Amino acid sequence: MTNILLNGIATLDIINQLDHYPEEDSEVRALTQTLRIGGNAANSSIVLQQLGVNAHLIASRADDSNAKQVFSQLNERKINTDLCPVHNNSSTPTSYITLNSHNGSRSIIHYRDLTELQASYYIKLNLSQYNWLHFESRDCKQQLKMLQYAQTFKLPISIELEKNRKAIETIIPFADLLLISKPFAESQGFDNAYDCIKHYSQRYSDKTITCTWGKQGAWAYANSSIIHQDAFPLDKTIETLGAGDTFNAGIIYSLIKQKSLSQTLKFACRLAANKCMQSGFDHLIIPADH
Ligand code: FRU
Repeated sequence: MTNILLNGIATLDIINQLDHYPEEDSEVRALTQTLRIGGNAANSSIVLQQLGVNAHLIASRADDSNAKQVFSQLNERKINTDLCPVHNNSSTPTSYITLNSHNGSRSIIHYRDLTELQASYYIKLNLSQYNWLHFESRDCKQQLKMLQYAQTFKLPISIELEKNRKAIETIIPFADLLLISKPFAESQGFDNAYDCIKHYSQRYSDKTITCTWGKQGAWAYANSSIIHQDAFPLDKTIETLGAGDTFNAGIIYSLIKQKSLSQTLKFACRLAANKCMQSGFDHLIIPADH
């Protein structure tokens, strides 16, 4: 079985569902409130586990009651969290999410003061038991040292570029697979995915690169060609929260399975569309052609 080590965060997501996006300085009542595990790497782990991959999450862990809840929910879903270092007197990163049930949009207020995963911890690990290493880009100064160590194991490495971060350009060269989101592309001055992927593919022609662009679908690059996949139409939009994390899991899984680039992109787009038509990540409908 394939073992993948995902480096990132686990959060507590407090999701308030509203029938419209509230105005500033107004008081509104939520239709529902759900408390759930969140964080890009944690969400991708849950999806990968359902795809039959052994997901191991490495993320800083707090020692509060929220951490107990988050990590027991991860473990119930068979995500291995044994490597997560616990920080004393700390609190779990929390996201307060407003979900507009009218259009499925999600607005996130994220709070954290938990120390990011430290390279001094990571570089003591034996990574030879894994088949793939994934990094959600976060503290790039620390992750640069982790990646320098990780590359000595000669395993495939994927890096998600979701937001612009200090020194993020220093970690990009280490990736075999670069997963670029629309907000990151926009932060670099691109107003469309094609230009973004073209730019990065010219600089890093040996990598596989993806770039998502909401309703316009996604683009992918490998072996000198750029392809596009339209977004799949949604019967209903329930929740877009974590659609990108689902897409990334779909790409990684398909590449592990050595599918072609177009099969990989199609699979990931379909999987992300399926996620948008449901709440959360459990019981995700897996596209038949995987
Ligand atoms: C969705 C998500 C949420 C989390 C937030 C962290 O992609 O991972 O689950 O709260 O982003 O930035």
